[in-house]
Amino acid sequence: MANLNGDVALVTGAAGAIGYEICRALRDAGARVAAVDIDESALARAVANLGGGDDIESFVADLTDDEQTEALPASVRDRFGALDILVNNAGARQVAPMLDITSAAWRRTLEIDLVAPFALSRAAIPAMIEQGRGKIVNIASMAGLAAFRDRAAYSAAKAGLIMLTKVTAVEYGQKGIWCNAVAPGVVETPMTTSFFESEDMTASIRANTPMGRWCQPEEIAQPVVFLSSRASDYINGTVLPVDGGWTAGYAGAELSPPRIGASR
Ligand SMILES: NC(=O)c1ccc[n+]([C@@H]2O[C@H](COP(=O)([O-])OP(=O)(O)OC[C@H]3O[C@@H](n4cnc5c(N)ncnc54)[C@H](O)[C@@H]3O)[C@@H](O)[C@H]2O)c1
Repeated sequence: MANLNGDVALVTGAAGAIGYEICRALRDAGARVAAVDIDESALARAVANLGGGDDIESFVADLTDDEQTEALPASVRDRFGALDILVNNAGARQVAPMLDITSAAWRRTLEIDLVAPFALSRAAIPAMIEQGRGKIVNIASMAGLAAFRDRAAYSAAKAGLIMLTKVTAVEYGQKGIWCNAVAPGVVETPMTTSFFESEDMTASIRANTPMGRWCQPEEIAQPVVFLSSRASDYINGTVLPVDGGWTAGYAGAELSPPRIGASR
């Protein structure tokens, strides 16, 4: 198991299903956690469910607001004295055919899924360089690796996040910055509740996934701990699909593309 030895981790979207499990797993591995979310009451509940304590603190912020985002690294350093790990996990997704996506909705998706991780990385990297090292883990999606119907904005944002991950590693690797991405497949969370209401959908997920199943949020959290730890010190600028093998089989296994989510 990785030992994070008191490292300080800033996790965004900490009140969400995957963010919560990332906070729990990082803490179990010995990290101190700055839990960030826009939803104040859900964040308070999440931190209480994690047992509270000196090694976890809530920070309420809207990551689409540059001022609030840019203030976060300094607030975290004021509270914990360091910032060693940044997990850009907050995200949002719209499921709609491309022709039905308004420019406002497109911008909103890109704001939270791509601009916010960029702005927060830009704010955190100088502090990490000053400390001598820092690890960034971006939560992308298999929808950033392969094209799925009805996810134009989300897929474009996540593909952009994957490329931001690589550029960050290339630009700042020699200054002690690691930046890697995790690309989850289908995870059972409130974001995907609708998937599990349809037998066709669950059958399609099983058929498209070599592991024959979807996953639980804690199965995304463990790879994040690995990429936050010294165990991954020779891994930089990569994207790790945590998708049960879905994208490995996608190109060759089926001639017809997999369908997930609503479509017209
Ligand atoms: N659930 C899946 O199947 C799946 C698959 C692939 C990738 N992902 C990615 O994993 C990440 C977490 O997903 P989840 O399923 O836990 O989602 P979720 O909706 O449960 O959690 C997202 C969290 O982000 C927070 N958030 C949204 N906008 C924000 C803002 N402007 N400022 C601050 N916080 C904000 C929300 O309040 C929420 O707590 C997302 O980036 C998502 O795209 C999820």
